[in-house]
Amino acid sequence: MRRKMIAGNWKMNKTIQEARDFLSKLQHLEPKQRARVVLCAPYLSLPALADVAIPPVEICAQNVHFAPSGAYTGEVSVEMLKEIDVHMSIIGHSERREYFNETDEALNKKVQAAVKEEFEVILCCGEKLEEREAGNQFQVVEDQLRADLADVKPEDMYLVNIAYEPVWAIGTGKTASAQDAQDMCQHIRRLLAELFNETVADETTILYGGSVKPDNIAELMAMEDIDGALVGGASLEPMSFLKLLDYEV
Ligand code: 13P
Repeated sequence: MRRKMIAGNWKMNKTIQEARDFLSKLQHLEPKQRARVVLCAPYLSLPALADVAIPPVEICAQNVHFAPSGAYTGEVSVEMLKEIDVHMSIIGHSERREYFNETDEALNKKVQAAVKEEFEVILCCGEKLEEREAGNQFQVVEDQLRADLADVKPEDMYLVNIAYEPVWAIGTGKTASAQDAQDMCQHIRRLLAELFNETVADETTILYGGSVKPDNIAELMAMEDIDGALVGGASLEPMSFLKLLDYEV
């Protein structure tokens, strides 16, 4: 049975102190839903959070480099994250693809580097508005994932979660309709069956992200192929994040 996951992506928000204060409001959490609860924080806050986080809260980075070490100014490796007890990172967020020119080729190296070290990823994909308007959304997402997951072994796919985040829905208040999100997540699951096998397709956690809020999360989570949410803006306030965790399907 694949696990549900609610992940907050804080992006470039919160000082270390603010991050600590947020987490202190989440301790001893018993969410109604038995989803994994994941906080994706800026690098600087990760050690402070990882030191005190207790289950079900897990701490996640927002990016990681593919090389184990070397001349990559400003970058952080899998090994460095594991040393501070962080065992998971987002990769390929559309903001990194767009503002930092991350290519599918680089992302493929990141997935490979991560799984080799038993490090989990939330791999993001999603189409831009003009691609959806042209009716190319399925092809765009499929092309991204085929490239990002090239040469990954089926037995390593337990370390890969996929987040479908249509770029036009991020931070805009425009959520994909639950049916559109479901259609894409189903398409992704079928692609996983083709690329790997039925078991991988069945067991991979697929998240939706893009203007998820306490008042629309239940509708999204009720969809067959949507196993979780990757949430930006609505994850920044503890009360809002707690409401997301207690969605009722
Ligand atoms: P918003 O929830 O603010 O639209 O952001 C979504 C996102 O990019 C999460 O990674």
